[in-house]
Formats: sequence, structure tokens, C-alpha cells
Amino acid sequence: MSDHVIRLLAPREVMGARPALVDLLVDAVEGGASVNFVWPMTREKAEKWWDGALSGALSGERLIFVAEREGVIDGTVQLIMAPQENQPHRADLGKMLVHRRARRRGLGGALLQAAEDHARRIGRSLLTLDTETDGDGERLYARMGWVKFGEVPGYALRADVTVPEGASFFYKRL
Ligand SMILES: CC(C)(COP(=O)(O)OP(=O)(O)OC[C@H]1O[C@@H](n2cnc3c(N)ncnc32)[C@H](O)[C@@H]1OP(=O)(O)O)[C@@H](O)C(=O)NCCC(=O)NCCS
Repeated sequence: MSDHVIRLLAPREVMGARPALVDLLVDAVEGGASVNFVWPMTREKAEKWWDGALSGALSGERLIFVAEREGVIDGTVQLIMAPQENQPHRADLGKMLVHRRARRRGLGGALLQAAEDHARRIGRSLLTLDTETDGDGERLYARMGWVKFGEVPGYALRADVTVPEGASFFYKRL
């Protein structure tokens, strides 16, 4: 792997990371990733989304991990605690984003490993997610031992707003 450090952002750090996290989301969508947004992607859309996520991080509902090197954040992923009273052992994994400048060096795998290790430590022993069928994420989760339990065809529009693509649903027991 590269010499990035993977770490969990402390609540006092999350607002300082906001511009870099916004950059990651804009870069991913502009690069065609299917992560809930379509073209034209704007900083305003990304800022609005992150403001909700960051308030969740401040309240402890979300844990945000980053891959950082020399003060530059090149990747992120988050654990979103299942809010249901009967699912205290489950979390969703979301917004796995590695900037195009830093892909294919192992950061995605390292972020996923760090999130899984942390989830295990805090007793979130079941993780779930969905991702674009046949996308880069799907290969990553399969490689890391996640179990695919289904596909929904035509789930979400591609970022370029041409056609709807399917979504694949995964879980992993830790
Ligand atoms: C999916 C995503 C997070 C993967 O991030 P990444 O940092 O490139 O992931 P990794 O480097 O761990 O693995 C990617 C590939 O690089 C390869 N790789 C890893 N380290 C490598 C190295 N040192 N040299 C060459 N190849 C390497 C992996 O084997 C993998 O290959 P594969 O895709 O052919 O299976 C990234 O592509 C991304 O942000 N995409 C846009 C957003 C998105 O789709 N997110 C998932 C939605 S849930």
C-alpha cells in the first residue's frame, strides 16, 4: 500500500475535513461513480450532503474514516449505526470514496479493513451496503469477503443521467 495513514476522524476534526470530503464526493461523481448524485455535480450539492453526514458524525450516529498523507485526504468511508432498537449489532457501510488521483494503490481496501476492524471492536458485528452492480466497489467488496445477496435491476440512474443501473446488496458478518 501507499504510505497513507487510515484513521477515524474525531468529532473535533470533522468540520476541518469538510472541504476535502466535499472534493472527494465531487470528484467521484464527476468521474461517473454512482453515489446518489447525477451530473452536473456541484460543490453546493456535495456540501449539503456532507453537512448532514457531519452532523451525524458529531452526534455519534456516523463514524468517518479517512486515508490521509501529508495532511491531504485522498479517501474516505463511513460506518452508519443502525438506529433501530433491535439492531444494535448492525451498521451500514457508506460513501466509500477514493480520489481519482489516488486509486488502485490499495486505499479502498485499507479503508474497508479499518472500518471493519473498528466495527468489530464496538460490537457492530453485521455490516450491510449497496453498490452499483459491476462497479469498482462491487469488486472491492467481493475481494474483501463480503457476501452478495441480491441485485435490483434499474435501481438508480447513472451519474451521466443516461440509463438506470442495477444495485448489488452485500453483507458481512464480522
Ligand atoms: C471503489 C473505490 C473506492 C476503490 O478504491 P481504490 O483505492 O482504487 O481501491 P483499491 O486500490 O483497494 O483496489 C482497486 C483495484 O486496484 C488494485 N490494486 C490495489 N493496490 C494496487 C497496487 N499497489 N498496484 C496495482 N493495483 C493495485 C486492486 O487489486 C483492485 O483491482 P480490481 O479493481 O481490478 O479488482 C474507488 O474506485 C472509488 O472511489 N470509486 C468511486 C466511488 C465508488 O464507486 N465507491 C463505491 C460505492 S459504494
